[in-house]
Formats: sequence, C-alpha cells, structure tokens
Amino acid sequence: MATVTIDKVRKAYGAVEVLHGVSADIADGEFVVLVGPSGCGKSTLLRMIAGLEDITGGTIGIGGRVVNNLPPKERDISMVFQNYALYPHMTVAENMAFSLTLAGASREEKQKRVAHAAQILGLTDLLGRYPRQLSGGQRQRVAMGRSIVRNPQVFLFDEPLSNLDAKLRVAMRAEIKGLHRRLATTTIYVTHDQVEAMTMADRIVVMNGGHIEQIGRPLELYDNPHSTFVAAFIGSPAMNLLNGCFDTAGGQPVFKTNDGIVLPLPGNAPKLVGVEGVYGIRPEYFTFSPANVGIPARVVVVEPLGSETHITATVGGQTIVTVFHDRLDIEPEETIWLQPRTERICLFDAGGRRLTGKAAERNLEHS
Ligand SMILES: Nc1ncnc2c1ncn2[C@@H]1O[C@H](COP(=O)(O)OP(=O)(O)OP(=O)(O)O)[C@@H](O)[C@H]1O
Ligand SMILES: [Mg+2]
Repeated sequence: MATVTIDKVRKAYGAVEVLHGVSADIADGEFVVLVGPSGCGKSTLLRMIAGLEDITGGTIGIGGRVVNNLPPKERDISMVFQNYALYPHMTVAENMAFSLTLAGASREEKQKRVAHAAQILGLTDLLGRYPRQLSGGQRQRVAMGRSIVRNPQVFLFDEPLSNLDAKLRVAMRAEIKGLHRRLATTTIYVTHDQVEAMTMADRIVVMNGGHIEQIGRPLELYDNPHSTFVAAFIGSPAMNLLNGCFDTAGGQPVFKTNDGIVLPLPGNAPKLVGVEGVYGIRPEYFTFSPANVGIPARVVVVEPLGSETHITATVGGQTIVTVFHDRLDIEPEETIWLQPRTERICLFDAGGRRLTGKAAERNLEHS
C-alpha cells in the first residue's frame, strides 16, 4: 500500500497542453475517483501515474518515492483497462497467473496467489474455464484477478465497467467496493459516470479541461460545489442553475431572474444590488406552496418514476427540474407554485464561482 502524490503535473502532446498543472494528495488505502467529461484528461493522468505516458512537468510520487523516471514495472502499480483483453487460449487460472509467469514465479507461488485472488473474486469454480465460456461480469473479474495476484501498492482502473450492461455495472460497482474494503489497497479509478464516482469514492477529483475543479468527499461535492461546473456535473437530475442578478426587496436580499421573477434568498445572503450571478438549487429542495405564493413554474413534463416524480417546468424563460417523493396529480401546462428551501441554495458569481458570505461580497466589490 502507498500514498500517491500528484504535484503540479502537466502534460503536453507537442505544442498542445492537455493537463495544466494538477495537484492531488491521495492517502494510503484511499479509493479516489477521477471524474469529468470526455477529453478532460483523466486517462492521461492515470497513464502518467502508471508510467505509460511521459510527464511534461511536475512530479508524481508513489509511496514517498518520485517515480517520474521509473518504468511501469518498477512502480508497483497494476492497471485495469476498459478493454481488458484476456488471452482466449488460456484458462482463467492461466490468465490470472500470466504476469507471475512472466516474472518467473514458482508453480506453488502462482497457485497460492491465484487461489487467493479467485476466492476473493468468487472465481474458484471457474479457474479451468476459457474466457469464451464466461459472462461479461466474470471476464471483468478475471481482469481484476490479474491485478490482484500481483499484490500491487496501487490499483489503477480506467473505466473498467463501461463495456458492461447497466445491471452488471451496478453489481460490479459493489464488487469493486467490497474488494477495496477487503484489500485496502490505494485505488485510483477513472470514470465519466458521476453515479459511479458518488457510490464508490472515498474522495472524488472532478476534472474539467485539464484542470482540477474540486476535490472532496461525495456528499461534500454534492452539498458544497465550488463552481457551477461541479454543481451541474455531480447529481442527477442536475442542480438547477438560474441566471439573473442580486437585488433587495423590503430590506431582504433576493435574486431576480433574467425574466424578472423574484426568488428568495436566505437572510444571511450577500446584499449585492444589481450584481449578476447564478442561483443554484437542487431538484429535491422545493416544496409546493399555495397559489400566488413563491415561484410560479409552468409544467412542461411530468415523469412518474414510481418512487419519485420528476417535474420539468419553466420559471420565466428558464427550465428547472424538481423531484418529489410523492405521486402527483399534475398535468403539463399547469402552473404550480414552489418554495425553495433557502438554506440549501448555492449562489455563484457570473463566472460560475461559488459565492459564500463576506469573502464573496468583498470579492465582488473589488471586481
Ligand atoms: N497521444 C495523444 N496525442 C495527442 N493528444 C492526445 C493524445 N492522447 C490524448 N490526447 C488528448 O488529450 C486530452 C485528454 O485525453 P484523455 O484521454 O486523457 O481524456 P479522458 O478524460 O480520459 O476522456 P474519455 O472520458 O473520453 O476517456 C484530449 O483532448 C485528447 O484528445
Ligand atoms: Mg479516458
């Protein structure tokens, strides 16, 4: 097991820089998920940790040792890819033992390690089979078994579940988490699926365009996004983000949408008159209010999902989504009146950066 330190790491392909100086400290035994949209640099960063890509700038350390110039096999890491090609002519046991065979391990050693990994992964009865005789999930487990037998200091996963169907993905998610609980090996897991990130990570690193937007525990990011990017990326349906400007009404701070609809703010919100910003509120933080009280929203779509009902509606010209844990007798074209839970509102400046308290007010006064 080991810590992984990523310090001001940059990557350029020729003249094009794709990672612009990213830093993250990963604790020993931690399960960290790198998440972000396609092309943001997740795989590039992971491959640099693995030693499969040169490091243009900065340093990467594993277990306190700078590995910038170490070849992959000396880094004591093991990587599972999205396309985990198994050798079709080898049995499960042979596939799992392959790296040990290359390393010249003895027969007994190989048997012992493969048996141990197979037991952890529930593959003991399948060791004599060939890959073509396995389901997708079983093949994925064999690919993980190949990593486990090497007993690495760090596991690296690059979208290992994206080739599986939705149901299997959910099952494998739980298996990988369970595996991590048993082995407690430092793990860095890349995905573009925020649900995978939320459900698996001790901490999430949200990446955007070669930068790190925010690092935090799943619910920390959910409750306290530092930017509209994180607010929109983490959580589904996404946080509602309404454009408008800050104002006051009757001495109280309020937010006026671009269409002039007045939204309430908590009493301690910054008093900024005429400053543009973004009003963020998650879909589940609305309650119904009597007609002509609160925010008028014109219903566009009602989606009954059984355990919850999603309502898409327009507030002025902007679209919001609300989630209620009830079955609702509401039709499109109706106007409903909503009250946001003001203590749950996230405010952002016009550039999408989070505004909080006094510091934000000062920032804005100077801008
Ligand atoms: N060998 C390469 N040469 C030039 N550019 C590259 C190379 N590999 C990756 N890139 C670019 O670097 C950026 C980051 O790519 P990367 O594969 O890390 O993205 P990603 O976050 O893993 O995306 P995805 O979710 O699609 O896998 C992209 O703009 C990509 O086009
Ligand atoms: Mg990738």
